[in-house]
Amino acid sequence: FNILVLHGPNLNLLGEREPKHYGQTNLTSINQQLVEMAQTAGHQLTPFQSNAEYQLIEQIHLAHHQQIDFIIINPAAFTHTSIALRDALLAVAIPFIEVHLSNVHAREPFRHHSYFSDIAIGVISGLGAQGYSLALQAALFILSNSR
Ligand code: DQA
Repeated sequence: FNILVLHGPNLNLLGEREPKHYGQTNLTSINQQLVEMAQTAGHQLTPFQSNAEYQLIEQIHLAHHQQIDFIIINPAAFTHTSIALRDALLAVAIPFIEVHLSNVHAREPFRHHSYFSDIAIGVISGLGAQGYSLALQAALFILSNSR
């Protein structure tokens, strides 16, 4: 399978950014771990981070042509604002899991609404960096059972 992992704005600062919410692990090690996990299982995984909404949208459009089977996305602050990213995911109709490092429901009220949760296969929030590997595990399980 071909899996795309999308990280939204400010996630390039993981490890140094508000560690009480987002942990000590940086994005490079999260990505490395995911790539290795996918490879070990015989699959391909491509991580992509951007602080720009349009670049994330373009990556989703590209995913359609690159035969991406599944997307794992942490839209970061765009979770709570981006109808455009939501529409892009609906347009390509690639199944996805929404991941948040922090438990967004235990934080400010403006983080409680997501433009993605109702169209996601599932949501993982509050389990830190581990959330990504759990999402990958779930994605591989779902894909294996759909063939
Ligand atoms: C986040 C939660 C968002 O509310 C926040 O804007 C982020 C990160 C998380 O991973 O916990 O940037 O998506």
